[in-house]
Parts: sequence; C-alpha cells; structure tokens
Amino acid sequence: MLTSQVKITEQEKWNSFQKEFYNSREHSRMWYDGNSHFVASILNKFIPFATLTTQEQILEIGCGAGRYTLPLLLRGYQLTAIDISERMLKKLQEDTDKLKIPEKQYTIMRSDIHSLNVENDKKFDIVIGFNVLHHLFDVKNCFENIARCLKKDGRMVFLEPNALNPLHYIDTLLDRGWQAEGHKFDSLPDRVRMSLTEAGFHNIQYRRFGFFPPLLINCFPSLLKTESYTDQFKFFNKVLPYFMIKGEF
Ligand SMILES: C[S@@+](CC[C@H](N)C(=O)[O-])C[C@H]1O[C@@H](n2cnc3c(N)ncnc32)[C@H](O)[C@@H]1O
Repeated sequence: MLTSQVKITEQEKWNSFQKEFYNSREHSRMWYDGNSHFVASILNKFIPFATLTTQEQILEIGCGAGRYTLPLLLRGYQLTAIDISERMLKKLQEDTDKLKIPEKQYTIMRSDIHSLNVENDKKFDIVIGFNVLHHLFDVKNCFENIARCLKKDGRMVFLEPNALNPLHYIDTLLDRGWQAEGHKFDSLPDRVRMSLTEAGFHNIQYRRFGFFPPLLINCFPSLLKTESYTDQFKFFNKVLPYFMIKGEF
C-alpha cells in the first residue's frame, strides 16, 4: 500500500515536470513542417511496418504539436491525438485548423496515457506514438493501460530514438531537454520488448534504422538512399539512431 502510494506521488511529480517542460516554451523543432523530408521518410517506414489503414481508429499518444499527426491526417488516417501538454495541443489545433482538416477525422484531447480511460464502444484498433516512451514514468504501466484502450486483437506501434546512439544526446542538448528524458534507458529496444511481454503483448517485432540526423536529411534528401542500406550491416545495427517496435494484444 505504502509502496504504491509513493509510486503515485513520484509519478505525479514526474508528469507535472513533463507538462511544465512542454508548456513553458515553444518547442518549434517539433512543429509540423510540410516540407520535412525527415518526417516523410520516417512515415514511409512507419506506415507499412504498422500496417496502418484509413479505415482504422488510431490513438496517438504524446502527439505533441502534431509533427507526425498532421502528415497522417493529410494522408487520410483517422486519429485521436492525446498529450499531457496544453501548449503543444494548442499548436496542433491551430495547424489542424490552418490545414482545414475535416473535424470528423480527428479528436484532440489533453490526457496522461497512464490514466487514460476509454469506454468499451470507443476502443481503438491501434495505438501509436513517436518519441514518447522515453518521457514516460512507467513504460510497463503505460502498455497495460494501452491494452485496456484496444479492441480485441488490437496492436500498438512506437517509434523511438535509440539511446545507444550518440546523436540522440546531441539532439537532447539542442532541445535543452536533459531532465525531461530521464527515463531514456527504459526505452531501449530490449527493455521495451520486455515491458510489452510483461503487459501481455505478443508477436513483438522491432527494427532499427537510420543513420543521418534530421537536419542533414532535410538539406540533402538524397542521403536517404544511402540510409536505406544501413540496417543491413550487423556491425552498425545495435547503434542505429531509431527503432520501431510493434506488438499485438
Ligand atoms: C519528445 S515529445 C514528442 C512529440 C511528438 N510525438 C513528436 O515526435 O514531435 C514528447 C511528448 O510526450 C508528451 N508526454 C509526456 N508524458 C506524457 C504522458 N504521460 N501522457 C501523454 N503525453 C505525454 C509531452 O508533452 C510531449 O509532447
């Protein structure tokens, strides 16, 4: 009893820190940019890996200002997007209005994934997230809650930076986000796989990929051709900068 009370207090503290971090200033590096070759290249890998279809109800957690949400909506997917930060969601709503995305295609909600509650008739086919797991207080608890939000035979798919790659630390420094990413190592592929198994997911698969930082890819999109071979080299594989992981429930 006492242990779980302590855990909840720590979780509350951690969440208010996250909220404060994302509410306190503009994180413009995470805003939607229709010309981003980097984001398009991530989605071109993520969509087939996740086997997303436009008929499914998708829940995106930790959507932020919609860097991935908006391109998905523009490609016709139906999304409910949640985040803990009002400021990030305000920016997402503004851009959704600017892009005239039909209202029936999306729902934007402020919510913490650890406590999100979904009624039976509103459950999702798939839960997705980009760069969010390493911001969570308790990844396993988050997966257990995700399982409660899924329809029967639902699935979840996440894209994460690989904490074993040095680029990730440069990125964190640029965003002055060191403290907000205190749980980096809980989101290493093997740890995520373990948390997924413990939360009852099966058929878990992951793939590491990438090589160049977003800035270089956006300036020289032809680098993407070179990058498409990197995941075939066993030597590099463990430290490639990104990974996608999926599991079925
Ligand atoms: C690194 S940002 C990623 C945003 C977006 N997915 C992207 O890639 O641009 C992490 C996001 O997770 C959100 N977040 C952190 N903890 C959360 C929680 N417990 N529930 C929901 N969202 C959370 C933050 O507010 C932030 O917007």
